[in-house]
Amino acid sequence: RNVKRYMACRNDIRRHDAPFIAVYKSLIPAEEELEKQKQLMAKLDNLVANEWPNAKLYLYGSCANSFGFPKSDIDVCLAIEDDDVNKSEMLLKLADILESNDFQNVQALTRARVPIVKLMDPVTGISCDICINNVLAVVNTKLLRDYSQIDGRLRQLAFIVKHWAKSRKVNETYQGTLSSYAYVLMCIHYLQLRSPPILPCLQEMEPTYSVRVDNIRCAYFDNVERLSTFGSSNRETIAELVWGFFNYWAYGHDYANTVVSVRTGSILGKREKDWTRRVGNDRHLICIEDPFETSHDLGRVVDKFSIRVLREEFERAAKIMHQDPNPSAKLFEPY
Ligand code: CTP
Ligand code: MG
Repeated sequence: RNVKRYMACRNDIRRHDAPFIAVYKSLIPAEEELEKQKQLMAKLDNLVANEWPNAKLYLYGSCANSFGFPKSDIDVCLAIEDDDVNKSEMLLKLADILESNDFQNVQALTRARVPIVKLMDPVTGISCDICINNVLAVVNTKLLRDYSQIDGRLRQLAFIVKHWAKSRKVNETYQGTLSSYAYVLMCIHYLQLRSPPILPCLQEMEPTYSVRVDNIRCAYFDNVERLSTFGSSNRETIAELVWGFFNYWAYGHDYANTVVSVRTGSILGKREKDWTRRVGNDRHLICIEDPFETSHDLGRVVDKFSIRVLREEFERAAKIMHQDPNPSAKLFEPY
């Protein structure tokens, strides 16, 4: 009888696959937007190469990790191997160059936590932030993109979760909720833990890619085209995964004791990471380990108020997935 009930429930949830796929398709950016980004990058590449011949520009964040929405700003990292770069001076110099090449709204924010130059390109209409030597972000961007190549369900799930988080105003790190980067890691982790798994753990496999960044060794298996059938024995569909994801974060996750870790493809104890108490501003109320900077908890922005907001939103989403006749609309109702 239980099996019967399970199958009935499963068929019921699968009715929602088509509407969720439609939401996903409405969120992915058009090809011509990517073309415009490339055009802008080429222009910036030129200007930078003229001034700093040994520097290189990299895209990172949502414009390069394959989890970007249409019309997002692009994030660029200027990497330069030079032991005594003065970031502020360089950013000011860069701002000068950009202004004299007709970029608009050029602004050097040299005192920000991550110092950047902001600009708007009048030709493509794209806004852009450029930072210096944030190479770890370039590497974790590649990790996310590589995961997204393995199984299409990751991109579907992550777009839906990001869209939900933005609609419900729980994607605002300055208000104590989580970054898009954190949500994508939560999605990867959820798919690693399915049985059978939908995603492997690339950092536990024989590395085919290895770089050292600020004394952190970043190594993992990146021949992902070899893994294109990895998840195929798991037949779960997008509606089931959305349902399961929210159910996990509403009722399944042990917030008091555990850490989700994409690096190991498993759930770790807070104790083994020594994340059991508040240190400074790190309260560890929801713990998501950065895959490379392993001392970094992406949940550290969350405080005792915002954890309640988050958990209530996870519960709301789980209830909608359980009960609502039209979850693909209700889930994204603006807060
Ligand atoms: N990043 C990071 N550590 C964080 C937050 C972000 O290294 N705590 C880096 C990641 O490389 C991430 C990039 O900064 O890909 C941009 O982060 P974020 O804005 O959260 O994600 P986006 O993918 O750009 O999402 P959005 O569409 O919301 O801009
Ligand atoms: Mg971004």
